[in-house]
Amino acid sequence: MGQALTLPLVIGHRGAAAYAPENTLAGFRAAKALGCVWVEFDVRLSADAALVLCHDDSLTRTTNGSGRISQLPLSSIRRLDAGSWFDGGFAGEPLPMLEEALVVCDELGLGVNIEIKAERGLARATAAAVATCLERLSGHLPVVLISSFLLEAIAEAAERLPRCPRGILWRKAPRGWARIAQGLGCATINIDQRYLTESAVNEVCAAGYPVLAYTVNDPARARQLFNWGVASVFSDAPDIIAPTTGCDSAAEARQGASR
Ligand code: G3P
Ligand code: MG
Repeated sequence: MGQALTLPLVIGHRGAAAYAPENTLAGFRAAKALGCVWVEFDVRLSADAALVLCHDDSLTRTTNGSGRISQLPLSSIRRLDAGSWFDGGFAGEPLPMLEEALVVCDELGLGVNIEIKAERGLARATAAAVATCLERLSGHLPVVLISSFLLEAIAEAAERLPRCPRGILWRKAPRGWARIAQGLGCATINIDQRYLTESAVNEVCAAGYPVLAYTVNDPARARQLFNWGVASVFSDAPDIIAPTTGCDSAAEARQGASR
């Protein structure tokens, strides 16, 4: 860990969420097939402190199960199908554990943005578990950027993994953002593209931070953001930002996902 960050223009959001079920290994293969060099995914703790990839607190939207991940053991979560809700061709796709995701992304040559999600009171424990996982895989890791909306998660990551780059997530940078980012030793500022303006991008760039914008699925908006100085955009459909990535077609992404 402690790599210098070379950010790509486009980061596959939750893998390649427009083409494969979000936050799955199939999604990472799809992103790779689309020409991505980085993916973003969300990670959270199960009741027995395993790290699994899932955006929502609840399993309802993206699996055939229900209930909150923080209330269920890994054994129950692993039995679920996280692919069928998206498309029958992905039936049986499990919710990956963080370690599996890192191994697969390393094999695929994908850099990863690990976004730490946590319910109230679990931010530090989740970040600590991420740190333990990264330490265990040390030497066999892709390039990693840790990010979170949760300041406590970033603080824990800073303490446990001081050399691993960190990004802070905001919908809109708050007043005093630079002091917060500096205090947490952040390397990037990750902002909701809907709230980004040219002056906001200028302000963050002038302070020396790359701006990462989520979630951009419109090529014209991506071009505008890049013209303003945004370093990277997260996209569910990285191929439609193709002129800047060399991405191939959606059909190729689906083939890549099923390999
Ligand atoms: O990390 C960028 C983006 O994923 C943050 O929002 O809700 O999609 O995890 P969300
Ligand atoms: Mg995310």
